[in-house]
Amino acid sequence: MSPIIEFKNLTKRFKTRIAVNSLDFNIEGGEIFGLVGPNGAGKTTTMRMLVTLLKPDHGEIYVGGHSIRNRPNEVRRQIGFMPDSFGVYGDMTVQEYLDFFGACFKIHPQQRGRLISDLLELVDLGHRRDDMVDTLSTGLKQRLGIARVLIHDPSILVLDEPASGLDPRARVEIRELLLEVARLGKTILFSSHILADVGELCTRVGILEDGKLVALGTLDQLSAHVMPYRQLHIGLLSRREEAQVTLQSMEGVFEVRPVDNVSRVSLEVDFGGNEEAMHQLLAKLLAHGFPVIHFSEETNNLEEVFMRTTKGIVS
Ligand SMILES: Nc1ncnc2c1ncn2[C@@H]1O[C@H](COP(=O)(O)OP(=O)(O)O)[C@@H](O)[C@H]1O
Ligand SMILES: [Mg+2]
Repeated sequence: MSPIIEFKNLTKRFKTRIAVNSLDFNIEGGEIFGLVGPNGAGKTTTMRMLVTLLKPDHGEIYVGGHSIRNRPNEVRRQIGFMPDSFGVYGDMTVQEYLDFFGACFKIHPQQRGRLISDLLELVDLGHRRDDMVDTLSTGLKQRLGIARVLIHDPSILVLDEPASGLDPRARVEIRELLLEVARLGKTILFSSHILADVGELCTRVGILEDGKLVALGTLDQLSAHVMPYRQLHIGLLSRREEAQVTLQSMEGVFEVRPVDNVSRVSLEVDFGGNEEAMHQLLAKLLAHGFPVIHFSEETNNLEEVFMRTTKGIVS
């Protein structure tokens, strides 16, 4: 893989406020990259510079090797950008809306019809093609927005908070749609202030705070970096109290908590060892004759990663 987007020392000020502060990182072709951070962190400003709507004060961005400063037209050709608000084209039909943007990109009228049908099928809006844009729910408007940014067949989609304001069902649908778009070979950069939106979807996550990238990596890497220990779940048929005492005396174990759920008795263990040590821990439990029926590591603690990172625990 080679970088398709390169941020180099990117900096933007608004008067005295630094909105984006020395951003330096790459996004590889084919990635689904989540830019995450609280409101005001600089996500939108970063994206607006990437899509050539705003000039940086310092630094550069290269898109497919083209500089946003010197080759803005080449950059725009490669990118489809969906801003965080929908725009004002409500009084036309879904079909007309896409046709309008197709015409803007000078796509031949004969090709447009076919293309629009394909896009509507992709975003699952074929049945609404003759409805007015105004009448669509927020979730459907977001899907239409994604169809629109695909119309000139860009290799990169830049989506600013595509899941914001959506109900849980529409969120899941957007997530599935983005995965489908990624399968078409597109690179996706999207922002969110909600961690749960990026967790299952992204190849990598960058956490932005106060204009600075405070963490970057896969979810697993971020967890390992931020969390001083792993969280293990151990399910037992019986003898939970006894197992708890035994575990507490084992090397690398920080804390053991009983967890009650309907179907089984289990323990939650904060553990400071590597995978080999995890294996040893399990082997010892079995050697003691404990009836272990479940043993797993909690890896999806993105919320915790985010809280710790943005509290400045990681520098
Ligand atoms: N056009 C502007 N003029 C002045 N300040 C701005 C402007 N756009 C953004 N900012 C400021 O820059 C910071 C980053 O904003 P933004 O990029 O919109 O953050 P996010 O999208 O992560 O919520 C905020 O403090 C915001 O108030
Ligand atoms: Mg924003």
